[in-house]
Amino acid sequence: MELKIIRLTKTFDSKNAVDDLMLTLSNGVYGLLGANGAGKTTLMRLLCGLQRPTSGKITLNGKNITGLGERYQSLLGYLPQHFGYYPDFTAYEFLLYISALKGLSDTAAKKKSAALLEAVGLAAERKHKIKTFSGGMKQRLGIAQAMLNDPRILILDEPTAGLDPKERVRFRNLISAFARDRIVILSTHIVSDVEYIAEDIILMKSGQIIHFGKPQEITAELNGQVWEFAVPAAQAERYAAAFDTSNLRHTDSGKTVLRVIADRPPAAHAIQVPPNLEDLYLFYSREAAGQSTMLTQRFRGAADQADMLTQKLTHKSEDDADQQHPFRTIRSRTEMERKINDHTNCNRIMNHEGGIKE
Ligand SMILES: Nc1ncnc2c1ncn2[C@@H]1O[C@H](COP(=O)(O)OP(=O)(O)OP(=O)(O)O)[C@@H](O)[C@H]1O
Ligand SMILES: [Mg+2]
Repeated sequence: MELKIIRLTKTFDSKNAVDDLMLTLSNGVYGLLGANGAGKTTLMRLLCGLQRPTSGKITLNGKNITGLGERYQSLLGYLPQHFGYYPDFTAYEFLLYISALKGLSDTAAKKKSAALLEAVGLAAERKHKIKTFSGGMKQRLGIAQAMLNDPRILILDEPTAGLDPKERVRFRNLISAFARDRIVILSTHIVSDVEYIAEDIILMKSGQIIHFGKPQEITAELNGQVWEFAVPAAQAERYAAAFDTSNLRHTDSGKTVLRVIADRPPAAHAIQVPPNLEDLYLFYSREAAGQSTMLTQRFRGAADQADMLTQKLTHKSEDDADQQHPFRTIRSRTEMERKINDHTNCNRIMNHEGGIKE
């Protein structure tokens, strides 16, 4: 399969949420990273055919997805970022309901729903009402519903939001096993979730792709520019404010180890370390938030430190992870159906023959 994004643009109120994107995806797992507002959800909705591009197109094996209609939608599974659920359904009922909307037969629906509840670790809670679920449990149910039709193209918008570490590992294993001969695209703010399972990373900023490739390839941009050094804990904040700091670790000895990005040694005793994806993501996220800008404009060298630390630089200590909970209660079945429509429009199974060739 080849999914091709050709000069894709989506404009909202004269702002390009997706800006002239070019991208070719073949089978594999793709991790979509980008700060809040980078355009990830918009790109995913365009890929699902839930939004029409302002210009440009998406093709599957050379055919425009708009023309493929349900034949394309039958290949898709989608977990929206803000996923609706019906509180009085049990987990199992919910999956059966979505299966029906996707056109699965009764037998297939029961078999697949039970298998997926097992796969996402909800088998024991299958008869519990969704309103009694924790955020992470609802999220796992959301992942399960996206996979009901055994999609060839699986699009998951922040699937790991709200998952605890154990469940994140389960999710990674589930996706790795599922991904063979399929296209899986997942967005996240948690770099480690894609670092291990995504073969390729798509790093978005302001509607554009600023990096695309294997983690070790795209992080090469920061080679020689990532440093670690320890400072007394009391000074850590000032150092963190003065540099592009990707990590800050307190030690028992009262020192704090900083990991910073700078094109010169940030301190006399700083040691160079290999860049990782988190460094790159944070670097671009912080630029997006209007903080320190180009690598070339960074503060330079130990000799400049004294001056530097007296400057009043704005610093945002944490990346602005999406705090909004992805789930919200839907009060009526009509509303439920409207919401579900959003993510099953692109999921509905259609039995077709001689369909899309891989
Ligand atoms: N329906 C809409 N109407 C107007 N503007 C929109 C709409 N959808 C998205 N946008 C804008 O497009 C840009 C990209 O939004 P999008 O939701 O795609 O970002 P994102 O990368 O998914 O962000 P997040 O990490 O917060 O989920 C933002 O500036 C957003 O305000
Ligand atoms: Mg989003």
